[in-house]
Amino acid sequence: HPALAVSRAALLPPPGGPGDPAGQELPVESRPFASYGSALHIALPQAPRAGQLLTLLIDYEAGEGPGVCWLSPEQTAGKQKPYMYTQGQAVLNRSFFPCFDTPSVKFTYSATVKVPEGFTAVMSATSWEKQKDNTFVFKMSQPIPSYLIALVVGDIVSADVGPRSRVWAEPCLIEAAKKEYDGVIEEFLVVGEKLFGPYVWGRYDILFMPPSFPFGGMENPCLTFVTPCLLAGDRSLVDVIIHEISHSWFGNLVTNATWGEFWLNEGFTMYAQRRISTEVYGLPYTCLEAATGRALLRQHMDATGEDHPLNKLRVVIEPGFYLFLGVNPDDTYNETPYEKGYCFVSYLAHLVGNQSKFDAFLQAYVNRFKFQSITADDTLGFFLEYFPELKEKGVDSIPGFEFDRWLNTPGWPPYLPDLSPGQQLMRPADELAELWAADGLNMEAIEAVDITGWRTYQLVYFLDQVLQKSPLPEGNVKRLSKMYPKISKAQNAELRLRWCQIVLKNNLEAEYSKVKDFLHSQGKQKYTLPLYRAMWGGSEATRALAMETFSATAPQLHVNVQNYVKKILGLGGAE
Ligand code: BES
Ligand code: ZN
Repeated sequence: HPALAVSRAALLPPPGGPGDPAGQELPVESRPFASYGSALHIALPQAPRAGQLLTLLIDYEAGEGPGVCWLSPEQTAGKQKPYMYTQGQAVLNRSFFPCFDTPSVKFTYSATVKVPEGFTAVMSATSWEKQKDNTFVFKMSQPIPSYLIALVVGDIVSADVGPRSRVWAEPCLIEAAKKEYDGVIEEFLVVGEKLFGPYVWGRYDILFMPPSFPFGGMENPCLTFVTPCLLAGDRSLVDVIIHEISHSWFGNLVTNATWGEFWLNEGFTMYAQRRISTEVYGLPYTCLEAATGRALLRQHMDATGEDHPLNKLRVVIEPGFYLFLGVNPDDTYNETPYEKGYCFVSYLAHLVGNQSKFDAFLQAYVNRFKFQSITADDTLGFFLEYFPELKEKGVDSIPGFEFDRWLNTPGWPPYLPDLSPGQQLMRPADELAELWAADGLNMEAIEAVDITGWRTYQLVYFLDQVLQKSPLPEGNVKRLSKMYPKISKAQNAELRLRWCQIVLKNNLEAEYSKVKDFLHSQGKQKYTLPLYRAMWGGSEATRALAMETFSATAPQLHVNVQNYVKKILGLGGAE
């Protein structure tokens, strides 16, 4: 990556063997590959024998690259000390260290990190130890792909929340972090192990990141990184944690070999997440959560068009032959691999027709491919091998539901899992949204509905319905805002996102400041981009709001998110 300055490469003598311990210097050359990285060529003195172990030493310096984020004190929660973090997925770690930056290659790693006085370093590693001189030594003893290596250096402290789990956060957030997840993590791990097999990573810790962290969660092994937006005070956003825990089997153990089959990571993880959620919280609640996921898929396909080439599970990603050509895997991030992927895995379960048989298959699948990187052909081949009676029946070629169609045809999923067990939670929300969308408001009927006891995802579901019906008849949203301060003044990020979307779609100018405040408070990509898209697709006033908000917040955003917003606002940037 251009942000990485390689100064020297050397071939080290075999351990314990003769030769200069500084190694033999080798010529280094960078050759064009793609807009998001180049190929580092190191010429060996002679061709190695097959299977010969070589030790290369590469001196390099990493600076301001997309994978390595340097935050000023003002960009942290405590506002006292600077902070640095890395984010590898999908292809950003090449700006952190030289590597085979593809998910098809796995390796162990160790790292020695020296930091200034008053800072702590943590990494996605199975063991770590603090030595003298503010030096931390890390070791990941399981093979992982490059994108799962992660480092944070900051003023951070930890608190135990379970027998193999602690939370990490800046000191001013640690109490809230502990309170949010004290005593709840272990159950998810235990249920995960029961369903999918042993948890091989040792610890499962959670690090609360600064507000500009661009994702809800990132499944760095042993140490999930999460947005501080999860600190809702009521554990209502814990599905993100269950999701990242599920990656411990799907993604981190069994890994997509290419980013074109990202659905293998995320689709299976969504399925695993909802299996754990079903065991812990029951089917109705899990179906409600899945319905909000389906709404996201609907919105995404409406926005891009169902036939968009990204709306198939297997996406064509080519690096291109010269700079500026080709598709950057980081630009393909959308709901399809998650929610269409979830539908496909649900379809496989439906073909099997028996939950415990399918659970057993998932466990066998993890066991078969653990520590490997695979393609969908491996997955589906194993499925048919595991269920020979289904193979015999030709389930891979049922017209309309062909496996090949699932993978290679864009569009709405041909099969949707039955979410009707969630009806008891969804119906009241559907009915209430209907009432609010009516021309003359039936206030009597509206007031008869008591939402004070509704769970966050019920409110989210309700707001998604309202958004879908928006713009509502003149005056209705203003009235709704007044009637439910629990929604319009919510601090919960999922509710704030929906409320802001409703405000924009209904041109509720009186509340535009809420959009601005929300975008100032955090920088998660999935919250930021939809709001800028809505502002840019709106009126003169919302366009101005977008420009004003972006010029104030741009320096705080992750550079990728900055570029995507620039692209939305027609300011150049991205691709
Ligand atoms: N691995 C992803 C985050 C990611 C994807 C980072 C692609 C970089 C490139 C993570 O597991 C994820 O999916 N997070 C979601 C959680 C949600 C689906 C519960 C998020 O951040 O919103
Ligand atoms: Zn994920």
